[in-house]
Amino acid sequence: MAEEEGEAGGHHVLLLPGPMQGNVNSMMKLAQLLALHHFHITFLTTDFIHRRLYRFADIHSLSQTYPNLEFKTISDGLPDDHPRSGNNALADLYSSMNSFAKPLLRDIILSQTAAKSKITCLIGDGFLGGLTADVADEVGIPLIHFRAISASCFWALFCAPNLFESNELPIRGEEDMDRIISNLPGMENILRCRDLPSFYRGTETNLVDPLKSTVFDCHQTLRARGVILNTFEDLDGPLLSQMRLKFLRVFAVGPLHAHAKTTPSTSSFWEEDRSCLTWLDSQPLKSVLYVSFGSIATVTRERLMEFWYGLVNSKKRFLWVIRPDMVAGEDNDERVAAELEEGTKERGFIVGWAPQEEVLAHKAIGGFLTHSGWNSTLESLVAGVPMICWPCFADQQINSRFVSEVWKVGLDMKDLCDRDVVEKMVNDLMVHRREEFLKSAQAMATLAHKSVSPGGSSYSSLHDLVEFIKSASR
Ligand code: UDX
Repeated sequence: MAEEEGEAGGHHVLLLPGPMQGNVNSMMKLAQLLALHHFHITFLTTDFIHRRLYRFADIHSLSQTYPNLEFKTISDGLPDDHPRSGNNALADLYSSMNSFAKPLLRDIILSQTAAKSKITCLIGDGFLGGLTADVADEVGIPLIHFRAISASCFWALFCAPNLFESNELPIRGEEDMDRIISNLPGMENILRCRDLPSFYRGTETNLVDPLKSTVFDCHQTLRARGVILNTFEDLDGPLLSQMRLKFLRVFAVGPLHAHAKTTPSTSSFWEEDRSCLTWLDSQPLKSVLYVSFGSIATVTRERLMEFWYGLVNSKKRFLWVIRPDMVAGEDNDERVAAELEEGTKERGFIVGWAPQEEVLAHKAIGGFLTHSGWNSTLESLVAGVPMICWPCFADQQINSRFVSEVWKVGLDMKDLCDRDVVEKMVNDLMVHRREEFLKSAQAMATLAHKSVSPGGSSYSSLHDLVEFIKSASR
């Protein structure tokens, strides 16, 4: 440790992720990278998440690999029996943490008073809005915001006031959904109303309640000394140029999980079923469609059945993650999964939670039917796997548009889920347009790997971030 303390001059960085799987995963990778640069790191999660990590993730070996990485916890303020999944989870977590966690965070920072362990910099998840900015101001340490969502979503939310001013928002009902949005700098005429972040769906009144604060709290990032984005120049260059006109510093350091030396699957909230890797070993090259809707989204049983029929009718092989809490209104999702698996044995394999990064990197995987969460999207891009997107909420609608229309690495099934559409899209991706999509996905994967290699844009941006933390927290 002597060498490590010498290198980073005893700087101590506290990272506070939003309490969701995707946010914890990406900030955990950032924590690892900063620990490798010899910072002392405190990774602060909620009690609920810490219990999950303790049970299912390998945080013991993480602590051994990174002795300068320590874990601390605070309450998220929600009752123990709150499910913390489903489409309202984000709003509940956001408001509860904003009213509950502020004094707790301040006390943790202030309690670290000894010179050697004093916290000198806060990296806070922008999802938490003003919480981290208020505390950083109060205790007088520099704040950098981390955004776990896509750059396109962050920017579209940031530009909300302009969209209202130019009358492009609100969206005026279902018949307005295909109208093109022109006043988003860096992505003019790319999005239709239906591609905007889900917070914009519905009336202006809906926007105010309950997530108005999340939308407009993007402006809280102006109070930070910089913003870290999990993306890279070759992916989001035009947007990053626009953001640099507004924010003091933009560190585009992604894909975080693709940097050398980060370890996969260290922060799962569920037990990974590794038997799917053995099953994949026996499948032909690029023959399997991986299906997963992330950690929060829930589906109705009717919708689940549309996917099931679509997959079975496509006659393609598939590996499907049906989380233990994924089917809305069902009290026994394992039974639902078992029933589906029974009718699927020939070509399908169902698990409750998969080691996703390893699955996507497996040679048997030829496509990914995803909810277009940002981590899943990046993981697929890095693995060179084309996508079919079925976005549910938050940034997912805009991510899926970028997948199909900007990066051209897949198809966007947005708002159109029935068995015939699923069957057709699976065949388009895995058969009819297979070569075209594999080629563009692999080209993007090459760019992603280049960005995190020495001399690459994200590699340099990470270096800039490290130097900035050292200089700002003196
Ligand atoms: C949430 C929001 O829903 C998403 O829109 C936003 O971009 C980030 O925060 P989540 O829905 O969990 O995230 O999706 P995603 O960002 O894709 O993160 C899911 C993570 O869980 C990925 O890192 C993925 O590798 C992991 N995962 C998922 C597994 O490890 N195993 C699984 O079986 C499924």
